[in-house]
Amino acid sequence: MLNVTIDGKKVEAKDGTTILRTCQENHIPIPTLCFHKDLMPFGACRLCVVEVKVNGKWQLTTSCDAALKNKMEVRTNSEKVKESRKLAAELLYYKYPSTKAVRDAAKSLGVEVAEGEPKGNDCILCGLCTRTCHEIVGVDALKFVDRGLGRNLAEPRIEYIADACIGCGSCAYVCPTGFVKMESSGDRRVIWDKSFKMVACETCGRYFAPEDQLKWISKKTGVPMSELLVCTSCK
Ligand code: SF4
Ligand code: FES
Repeated sequence: MLNVTIDGKKVEAKDGTTILRTCQENHIPIPTLCFHKDLMPFGACRLCVVEVKVNGKWQLTTSCDAALKNKMEVRTNSEKVKESRKLAAELLYYKYPSTKAVRDAAKSLGVEVAEGEPKGNDCILCGLCTRTCHEIVGVDALKFVDRGLGRNLAEPRIEYIADACIGCGSCAYVCPTGFVKMESSGDRRVIWDKSFKMVACETCGRYFAPEDQLKWISKKTGVPMSELLVCTSCK
């Protein structure tokens, strides 16, 4: 068990957790844009910044990927924290001025946001889709290119690997900006411009999953395809 101080209050937390998770468990609000509770933290948006005391000095750190340590002192609402979050939100807004998720985050952190209906669906490089595809689905159909050390001068972007994709749609569900488009109609689902054949439930007739996804589940689990042809509602 860890004993820490957050905003002057004593808090107990379990070992192996992060500052953000502890704050969330204690109902201390921290803004996030690239965090998801089921995924490894990524530290991309920098909205979750807090201050921690290190050797007697307060230092800024992102809270989603910072391990909580025993006796740590944390400040989540100081002027320095608020300024840093606002600056991170301003940078995002400057880059993606018409993307709703960015505008909402920026507004809530005190950035002056121009009036008007947001029309953009930019990719903000939050990495939620790549992490979901890798960590949860396990097919690695999405990856970052031109990001990190040794990258080219080109803007980082997400690369779609069509051959690996099973059309499950997890990336579209998790994307906070609507950049990942998925459309389903009849027996087809189109995602990242690739078209997938959908399978109809043997009981209710509803198209419920791409054939490639069911084949992949069958291969991974050893359950025969013939046993995967009923949707979850009819099981
Ligand atoms: S496509 Fe969406 S989920 Fe993926 S990095 Fe871009 S904004 Fe994030
Ligand atoms: S939520 Fe921590 S950096 Fe985005």
